[in-house]
Amino acid sequence: MEFISHSAAETENFAAELAKKLIDGPRCVRADGQSCAIALFGGMGAGKTAFVKGFARGVGFKGEVTSPTFALVHEYIGGAVPIYHFDMYRINTEEALYSTGYYDYLDNSGFIITEWSENIADYLENDAIIITLEYCGEDCCRKITVEGEV
Ligand SMILES: Nc1ncnc2c1ncn2[C@@H]1O[C@H](COP(=O)(O)OP(=O)(O)OP(=O)(O)O)[C@@H](O)[C@H]1O
Ligand SMILES: [Mg+2]
Repeated sequence: MEFISHSAAETENFAAELAKKLIDGPRCVRADGQSCAIALFGGMGAGKTAFVKGFARGVGFKGEVTSPTFALVHEYIGGAVPIYHFDMYRINTEEALYSTGYYDYLDNSGFIITEWSENIADYLENDAIIITLEYCGEDCCRKITVEGEV
C-alpha cells in the first residue's frame, strides 16, 4: 500500500486510520498475546514522529507524543491498547536492543512502534509491519509505503 502525503497533518491522519484498521483486525489483539510490531524506516525529518502522533490518536490515546530520543521508549497508556514508542537512533546491536526492554514489551499485547528501524533491521520480527517514509520532491511531500498484512 502506498500513500502520498502533502503535510504533517495528512501523515498523522493516514497513521490514525491505519491504527483503527489494525485495532479491528487480527494483527493487534493476537491469540499469542504478543505485541504487534510496527517498524518505521525513514531518515531525519521524514515524519516518523508525526506518524506515531497520528497512530496514537487513532488508538485513542489523548496525551502528548514526543520522540523518545533520550528515554529510548515512551509508553502511551489509556487508548484501546498500550503503545510503546521506541527510538533506535543510538541502538545498533542485539545486546543494546535487549537492554532497552524491547523483548519484554513484545510480550505486552500492545503496539510497538520503532523509529530508526534501519538500525535493528536484522532483529525485527518476521511479521512486523514495515512502514517507510521518503521525501518525494517538494518540501512537504512524503511517500509512505506499508508492507506486510494489515
Ligand atoms: N508530509 C509530511 N509528513 C510528515 N511531516 C512533514 C510533512 N511535511 C512536512 N513535514 C514536517 O517534517 C517534520 C517531520 O518531523 P518528525 O519529527 O515527524 O520526523 P522524524 O522522522 O521523526 O525525525 P527524526 O529523524 O528527527 O526522528 C516536521 O517538522 C513536519 O512538520
Ligand atoms: Mg522522530
